[in-house]
Amino acid sequence: MLLLALASGVAVAQDAKARKDYLRARWDPIHFKPLIDKATNEQCLACHKEILTHKVRKASPAGWKADSVLAWYQTLDTYKGQQMTFHQRHLMSKYARQVMDLKCNFCHQGNDPREEAPASHAENQNDNTYTLRKMVNPETTCLRCHGKFPYEHMEGVEGDWSKVRQDFEDEETPNGCLTCHEETYRTVRHQVTYLKPENIEKLAKKSSDVCYGCHGGRKWYRISYPYPRHPWPGMKDVVEETPAWAKNRPTQSEARYRRKK
Ligand code: HEC
Ligand code: HEC
Ligand code: HEC
Ligand code: HEC
Ligand code: HEC
Repeated sequence: MLLLALASGVAVAQDAKARKDYLRARWDPIHFKPLIDKATNEQCLACHKEILTHKVRKASPAGWKADSVLAWYQTLDTYKGQQMTFHQRHLMSKYARQVMDLKCNFCHQGNDPREEAPASHAENQNDNTYTLRKMVNPETTCLRCHGKFPYEHMEGVEGDWSKVRQDFEDEETPNGCLTCHEETYRTVRHQVTYLKPENIEKLAKKSSDVCYGCHGGRKWYRISYPYPRHPWPGMKDVVEETPAWAKNRPTQSEARYRRKK
């Protein structure tokens, strides 16, 4: 009897320890401000290795084979390889690594694992930075690269790129965006730490799907991101005054991402 009681006591104690460890890990301060701002990918991956290693199913529960499907946004010239998970497409695909340098904390800025809601319990009354029911804030992350093509802001572009691109492109000009964006408009761009500006311009020489990919070609939103409007060389010669849509735009990238000159 005594032995049995002792043994089960040990089991309960071990169980409690394991559970406490799980809870401690789940509430590890690295998940939240201020520590998350300084966290490296390696620190996050020490506990979340599966984020980069787990794979998509070979077939959906209904039987569709993963290698037999192609979504509309996977028809861009830049899309390569087998189906991957969301995290792999942003952190590991060859193309992702060529054009961007995303960190875990670019998207993960801390969220509330308990209620998944801001201002919902005593602990988070004053925190309105979390997005309801989401682990990341899409407006400050996804929208930058998955907004709609903002042609309304582009003098001379009459509609969505998929409709007008043939007016700007032929065999000699594979990237119609550059007819305007090589020298004339908004040539100061992408000077942020999470993008690779030189590579973007280099790859874009071959296809406008490089530019369009992040500016409408994989859009999940009906709006576009309000990009900063950097003054560019020769700006005064082509636009006389600030257009109405640009009146409240910042003229520099967000400070936390700005590249040092
Ligand atoms: C000490 C280990 C540990 C570290 C380090 C760690 N996590 Fe976690 N994390 C956990 C555990 C455990 C959970 C809970 C998992 C569950 O319930 O399935 C969790 C949950 C999460 C969740 C889901 C939150 C929710 O709302 O359910 C996200 C997102 C997350 N972690 C991101 C990160 C990021 C980003 C980093 C680096 C800044 C990080 N984690 C570092 C252990 C860790
Ligand atoms: C491009 C933005 C982005 C980046 C970069 C990113 N994540 Fe996520 N992550 C997300 C989104 C979106 C979700 C799903 C959120 C939801 O369901 O509300 C998620 C979910 C998670 C979860 C919850 C478990 C799961 O599989 O859904 C963990 C853990 C996590 N991320 C860890 C990481 C780690 C570690 C890194 C860096 C190696 C990272 N993330 C980089 C956007 C990102
Ligand atoms: C800095 C730019 C950037 C940000 C921020 C970003 N993405 Fe992406 N996204 C890309 C690029 C580039 C690709 C294409 C990668 C490739 O072809 O390998 C992509 C691909 C995707 C795909 C297609 C995946 C597939 O397997 O075809 C989805 C879905 C997606 N992103 C959702 C999101 C969501 C949701 C967020 C915010 C949590 C987000 N993205 C943030 C640039 C970005
Ligand atoms: C006929 C010329 C022309 C073509 C072609 C063109 N653009 Fe533009 N684009 C402009 C002009 C003009 C502006 C606004 C300049 C200003 O700020 O005054 C602009 C602005 C932009 C902006 C910033 C919008 C904002 O709200 O701040 C982005 C992003 C952009 N273009 C991307 C592209 C991409 C990607 C392509 C090709 C898929 C493209 N453009 C093709 C002329 C063009
Ligand atoms: C991997 C995604 C990605 C690709 C590829 C990309 N962009 Fe961008 N672009 C962005 C993001 C994110 C911003 C906002 C950066 C910031 O906040 O300064 C941006 C900003 C811009 C702006 C606003 C410039 C300003 O005044 O700051 C223009 C114009 C633009 N891009 C045009 C292009 C063109 C043309 C190409 C192809 C040569 C292209 N983009 C390729 C993601 C991308």
